[in-house]
Amino acid sequence: MCGIVGIVGKDAVAERLVDALRRLEYRGYDSAGVATIHEGRMARRRAEGKLFNLENRLHDEPLPGATGIAHTRWATHGVPNETNAHPHFVDGVAVVHNGIIENFSELREELKAEGADFASQTDTEVVAQLLAKYIREGIPARAAMLKMLNRVKGAYALLVMFREDPNTLMAARSGPPLAIGHGRGEMFLGSDAIALAPFTNEITYLVDGDFAVLTRDGAKIFDFSGNPVSRQRQVSQAAAYVVDKGNHRHFMEKEIYEQPEVISHALSHYVDFASNRIRVDATGIDFKAISGLAVSACGTAYLAGLVGKYWFERYARLPVEIDVASEFRYREMPLSPSQAALFISQSGETADTLASLRYCKENGLKIGAVVNVKESTIARESDAVFPILAGPEIGVASTKAFTCQLAVLASLAIGAGCARGIISADEEKAMLKHLAEMPRIMASVLNLIQPQMEALSRDLSKYKDVLYLGRGTSFPLAMEGALKLKEISYIHAEGYAAGELKHGPIALIDENMPVIVIAPHDRFFEKTVSNMQEVAARGGRIIFITDEAGAAASTLPTMATITLPNVDELIAPMIFALPIQLLAYHTAVFMGTDVDQPRNLAKSVTVE
Ligand code: G6P
Repeated sequence: MCGIVGIVGKDAVAERLVDALRRLEYRGYDSAGVATIHEGRMARRRAEGKLFNLENRLHDEPLPGATGIAHTRWATHGVPNETNAHPHFVDGVAVVHNGIIENFSELREELKAEGADFASQTDTEVVAQLLAKYIREGIPARAAMLKMLNRVKGAYALLVMFREDPNTLMAARSGPPLAIGHGRGEMFLGSDAIALAPFTNEITYLVDGDFAVLTRDGAKIFDFSGNPVSRQRQVSQAAAYVVDKGNHRHFMEKEIYEQPEVISHALSHYVDFASNRIRVDATGIDFKAISGLAVSACGTAYLAGLVGKYWFERYARLPVEIDVASEFRYREMPLSPSQAALFISQSGETADTLASLRYCKENGLKIGAVVNVKESTIARESDAVFPILAGPEIGVASTKAFTCQLAVLASLAIGAGCARGIISADEEKAMLKHLAEMPRIMASVLNLIQPQMEALSRDLSKYKDVLYLGRGTSFPLAMEGALKLKEISYIHAEGYAAGELKHGPIALIDENMPVIVIAPHDRFFEKTVSNMQEVAARGGRIIFITDEAGAAASTLPTMATITLPNVDELIAPMIFALPIQLLAYHTAVFMGTDVDQPRNLAKSVTVE
């Protein structure tokens, strides 16, 4: 989950490499480093922590050189200090790596026994050590790369620079993504097209098992046996995206406030609002023909999938099997080709989700992908792609991608319900009318609740533990609320099905653990209020997130009541997502944490 980038350029590259790293910082920010070759010398600058530390270092000690590689790290093997920061150098070989070399300890022991001296604790260094050994043995660089690639096991995107060949970069992919950028008289490599967007929009994506050799004039791609392969060049849309905070303090805040606009954009891809019909051509899967859906995802995307399960089962009578991808991929669940599989991923690169996809593919299932990055590996390996059209999400804690995933899943569930004859044309119209109202309601809710959320966050920041409760689609929302809060404020939080309260968490209730109850005035309201009673009876402090009808119907004393407008049950999850996002955001801001880049997390998780 690191970010890597390389340039074989015409003039100095260090500054451009750092610029590309800034666009890759979402992949990790434990340390950063850059290396170049200049006048036969290879040199590097590395710094622990965020990218600005590396920028300061480069400011004091600039790096000349027209060929270079760079890295931003999410630590797996070895603490995040400067010694473990990439690029790793061994005898004229420089390596940056994203992924995990699984057989690194075996290789390390072997190399040590032969006298190798390891400078770092990383798995990556074995790659540099192996290559250096082969070069010392007189093996040419290209052959040395192939030999190394046939020794290392695991997941990797690798960029390698050889001191003796300053006009070439070599790269390989086995797992994590890697893209080649084609410039005019210069060539680029990067973990994604957004990193390369300022330089070029002509991109070639490497696939697993590709080995590439780049010079200023172009790229040659081979398999790991050295046979040439051909990959398509395509024009990336990444350059169209402006990646800045606008008038907001953080990307997360900007992304929260962008939701009405991006949801409206996403919906118009799936719904023809002129005729009030789902666009069947946008639904890609023949929902009438399938016996069920297997859904798999990680983190926030998984919680969106869980809301989707309620919708597909209720509105389309379609059974849904759902699991977090890290479990799904190893569960060996029986699958039938009569089912379709759906994978939800903002980045489209999450390693576990991709592995689940491949498992389903092997079992003959038709594959659909709900993704934000249309050019991602998950999108490319799917039969049907359902873009969420949220635009780049930079804040590590997902917000607009979550609600856009929900909007797309709601549209698909309605489409499935119509295709399966469960939803009538009139019902479809009514449901789509609710979806159409959503952007406007979201905009007014964001405006309405902002001051209250800011004030409430001051109270919430005093607590060490928080419990979120909900029923029906509010249950996954409770889990998402807890996830958001713990991710960025580091307050311990749990999301529970309200009915499960009495089976465990009730033992924790006291005045030191606020309970956030998400309860629109829906079919579950009375039951959830009973659970609230159980909390109140034990001296628990309640933050009640409800709608006007719910606020009028409850007389329980609360620490705070957040009253949203009455909305239809279908769109409630998207509307009720807003207070939980804002509450987590303001609490984190108040506590002074790094909201956009919370500790230990990364946005794109390309390791198991
Ligand atoms: C990481 C991110 C989460 C995200 C999850 C799944 O944990 O921090 O925000 O929900 O990965 O990522 P994906 O790109 O597959 O949606």
